[in-house]
Amino acid sequence: MTTARTTGISARATGLPHHSIREVMEVAWRRPEAIHLEVGEPGFPTPPHIVEAAARAARDGHTKYTPNAGIVPLREALAEKIGRVNGYPATPEQVVVGAGGVQILHNVLLALTDPGDEILLPDPAWPDFVQMAHLLDTPVRHYHQTPETGFLPTIEELEELITPRTRVLVVNSPSNPLGAVVPAELSAELVAFAERRGLWLVSDECYDEIAFDGTFASPMSVAPSPRIISVYSFSKVYAMTGWRVGYCVAPPEVAATLTRLQEPIVSCVNAPAQMAALAAVTGPQDVVGEMRDAYRERRDAAVEDLTAAGIPVLRPAGAFYLWVDITRSGRDSRDFAFSLITERGVAVAPGTAFGAAGEGFVRLSMAAELDDLLEGARRLVAHVG
Ligand SMILES: Cc1ncc(COP(=O)(O)O)c(C=O)c1O
Repeated sequence: MTTARTTGISARATGLPHHSIREVMEVAWRRPEAIHLEVGEPGFPTPPHIVEAAARAARDGHTKYTPNAGIVPLREALAEKIGRVNGYPATPEQVVVGAGGVQILHNVLLALTDPGDEILLPDPAWPDFVQMAHLLDTPVRHYHQTPETGFLPTIEELEELITPRTRVLVVNSPSNPLGAVVPAELSAELVAFAERRGLWLVSDECYDEIAFDGTFASPMSVAPSPRIISVYSFSKVYAMTGWRVGYCVAPPEVAATLTRLQEPIVSCVNAPAQMAALAAVTGPQDVVGEMRDAYRERRDAAVEDLTAAGIPVLRPAGAFYLWVDITRSGRDSRDFAFSLITERGVAVAPGTAFGAAGEGFVRLSMAAELDDLLEGARRLVAHVG
């Protein structure tokens, strides 16, 4: 039979929760003049020395399989970066390189859970977490990061959510979609909670170097623990989304398991991309600072304009998102986002794309140019009415 079957597809595949940011994007693509504030992707090109390193690597024959965990020079350089930037010691054996933060996170959850085990996820959160949990058959219990909780996790709520099947607490700081950063004292409490309850703490730090006010600290640097797995990415920090390189730092026995799991999933990350990542992490770091400064400038200007217009917005301490309260419009966040693109040509992500707790909010990406961001914010203010 060569005809496509609609039956016989797994419930796992057909039941995959969908990504509603994509639906806004599809409307926006039909409007060439639209202002794009919906996408979580740096507008900057990948710095030229990184691109050149990949081209040179391909020409020089770095076109073969690599070790499952990544090439040794990259893992050495990443262990050094963890000490320099994240402030805790790591060995190359603890570093596992994967196809973006997303694949590493999936692999980590695969290594730490069996079907039926529960994971604690933030609400609102990056939607891929819920998709991963669905594929792994791990029920999710959501903890809230809302105005009522100061947009941060609370130990009280986590204590209420835990059951004998809970295995993993996922914390994402700096947060997508909130831009919130977990303060060091709370990080230490979260680590203590995970240890006390025998959980793994998966710390998604993919925006680690996009933090503005010196408030971000890796949980491993604040409260070192063998229960923490820290996940990082080249995508946002170096404007390398399409290269697909991320990595984690895990206790040695977990890293060994993750390395074995890479084989049937990706085997290894493509070799020229690993060489590009090596050039990124060992090359000039001013590119990271320049992009961070641009995001900070955009944040300050947009927060000022929105605040002056009486629109509540969470001032992000990290990442490149603005979490904007649109309740005054009287519309729900999905209706607000779709009417904003169709009536005013501005694409934003509805807050509910990130979970039920996102109702009443939309997310604006500061990855757009300053002028576009401010014009988009101006039209959003008019749309709120
Ligand atoms: C919170 C968070 N974690 C991880 C990722 C993974 O990014 P990548 O797979 O491109 O490294 C993203 C990307 O949007 C993200 O927002």
